[in-house]
Amino acid sequence: MKFLLLSLSLLTASSAVTQTPIYLDVNAPLEDRVEDALSRMTTKEKVALSHAQSKFSSAGCERLGIPELWMSDGPHGVRAEINWNDWGYSNWGSDSVTAFPALTALAATWNPEMAALYGKSVGEEARYREKDVLLGPGVNIYRTPMNGRNFEYMGEDPYLAGVMAVPYIQELQKNGVAACVKHFALNDQEQWRGAVNVNVSDRALYEIYLPAFKRAVQDGGAWSIMGAYNRIWNQHCCHNERLLDDILKGEWGFDGAVITDWGGCHDTREAALNGLDIEMGSFTNGLTSEADFGFNDYYLADPYYNLIEAGEVNDSIVNDKARRVLRLIFRTAMDQSKPFGNKCTPEHYAAAKQIGDESIVLLKNNGILPLAPGKRILVVGENATRRLTDGGGSSELKVKDYISPLQAITEAYGNVDYAMGYKSGRPMYGRADEIPQAVQDSLRAQAVAKAANADVVIFVGGLNKNSFQDCEATDRQSYNLPFGQDQLIEELLAVNPNMIIANISGNAYAMPWIDKVPAVLHSSYLGTMGGASMADVISGKVNPSGKLPYSIPVKLEDCGAHAFGEKSYPGYDAAPSAEERPGGDVYGNPVDPQQDYMEDILVGYRWHDTKKIPALFPFGYGMSYTTYDYGKGSIAENGSGWTVSVPVTNVGNVAGQEIVQLYVGDDKASVLRPVKELKGFEKIALAPGETKIVSFDITMDDLKFYDEASKSWVAEPGKFKAYVGASSTDIRSTLPFELKK
Ligand code: GLC
Repeated sequence: MKFLLLSLSLLTASSAVTQTPIYLDVNAPLEDRVEDALSRMTTKEKVALSHAQSKFSSAGCERLGIPELWMSDGPHGVRAEINWNDWGYSNWGSDSVTAFPALTALAATWNPEMAALYGKSVGEEARYREKDVLLGPGVNIYRTPMNGRNFEYMGEDPYLAGVMAVPYIQELQKNGVAACVKHFALNDQEQWRGAVNVNVSDRALYEIYLPAFKRAVQDGGAWSIMGAYNRIWNQHCCHNERLLDDILKGEWGFDGAVITDWGGCHDTREAALNGLDIEMGSFTNGLTSEADFGFNDYYLADPYYNLIEAGEVNDSIVNDKARRVLRLIFRTAMDQSKPFGNKCTPEHYAAAKQIGDESIVLLKNNGILPLAPGKRILVVGENATRRLTDGGGSSELKVKDYISPLQAITEAYGNVDYAMGYKSGRPMYGRADEIPQAVQDSLRAQAVAKAANADVVIFVGGLNKNSFQDCEATDRQSYNLPFGQDQLIEELLAVNPNMIIANISGNAYAMPWIDKVPAVLHSSYLGTMGGASMADVISGKVNPSGKLPYSIPVKLEDCGAHAFGEKSYPGYDAAPSAEERPGGDVYGNPVDPQQDYMEDILVGYRWHDTKKIPALFPFGYGMSYTTYDYGKGSIAENGSGWTVSVPVTNVGNVAGQEIVQLYVGDDKASVLRPVKELKGFEKIALAPGETKIVSFDITMDDLKFYDEASKSWVAEPGKFKAYVGASSTDIRSTLPFELKK
């Protein structure tokens, strides 16, 4: 008996010695592990979790063996390694990656399966690069075609953006890599982004600018959110009590971590009390520069610790921040089951190609496309050869491979000549005016001379990733194509009318030549495989199936954001005049930039429909090399709402994919409502002659608007219409129905 007792006591003693702490027990529930780790940490260790320790990392808890968090841009692929304490690249030899298409291209596929494939693929590359947080996707709303970063976002409609963001987030996070959905919220332009205070109605906020973020959190399960640089209600988004505590963490139940945009934190007390969890940064508290490694000066570093020690931040807040950061670490760096990942694989290249294929939008075609072989082809335009993964700001990528349009078109057709036609200068910092006009004139003359001797001209121009084009930190300065392209296109057409426009851009732009050109393809930045996608659409190997995720106005004034003058875009300075300002802003920026979203809820097609200002090409528009016939639509109550059905047939002779769209409109409401709003879409593949029945369910939520008086969502009884269409204006069935009391 004695022996038995002795051995039992030894057993318990030894098990006590070898008992794994809960936080290290991979089989314990995650929340138990988080609470156990939290209970073991000191205040200093908790504070360390909440601020940067290098340009792209924040601390773990070394004493407990809890690893750091490593973050990386960006939404389109994993950015090259950056130095510890400045924005310079580390020039590694092992960090080149796959560049996936820009998110505005992903949106143009209107295919959630592509979003899932995207998230899986980019997540594997991030995991392989040992990143725990990928800083994307961006779901800010395309309010104006002047915004330099629209290419990183998913268009003008919050439903499309949200539905397309969810699979990307879900599949990304299955790799043990957190999405960091950005930029929360109302960062819808780059001009004055650091401080502009956006004045927007609660209706527009809740109906237009928040839904994609809300879906990303509630359906996507995003593990982190990035606070935007700008202000709302005159308080910085990165420590905005209503935005972060009330809406994000309160109403939406977000359990992840709020991370600032880099340098987006401006106040310790607000950061401590208003829901910020990790401060990342370019600079610190203004007293030190990044070169001094001022990470202990960060607002959520020593100043935050001092505030806690002074008794001004209660434990529940300190623990909530630390708990959220620990949860993020346990979901990523501490996840022992996460895959190893990989990069630049044939599978990832195939994914990038497929997404690119499905993203290209055919805007016009008189029959010249698909282009038959055997022609003497002249390719004109800098974007046919320029590596468009360079520049653009934080989404810039160092690619292992890059197939240019010229390379792919040459491989597809053989007999191809090239003329650049215009130059745009250095990536990112190049400006149109840095190229002497004589150089542009000469390039244009060379291209026109060659065009006269070609059977067909393929023009591959558009915007690019230079400043004041599709580029972070600056907005466009003109709605027209830059670098003299309109003149070049006109002169080319004069000598050869057989021209295919195959432009690349992340934005809409003016098309003064649209009536003269036989065909127009509209592509965003497609990354590594972009040229191959473009060539395959031109040759007909791929039947284009993309549709516009944003409207293309005829002229800028036709866009809602530009119908109310400067107050609405780009904003104005509410500070006293320069003479009265104490010191003023040395860069000439406004001291108190304010902006009023005066088009309110009427963004994009909501504006064009309701104000009866036709877009040149409307939201949801895109052609195919085949034709789809929509049969008679029907609507029927289904107990909890209504079901809409419509047969769609491919009546042409090539297979293709059609994006069927459902819009809903309220005939009469107590408030102004758009004529119709997107409430459903489905992309279907159809062989020649094949018919499929597409069905949509309309729920009560689809009928609601945000009522500012009651601060709630309201559906008013009355008559509504369901619109089934091939675009927001190409409506094939209008189906009335009624919501009874
Ligand atoms: C930039 C961008 C943000 C990016 C971050 C880190 O300023 O606004 O999108 O993820 O800083 O590069």
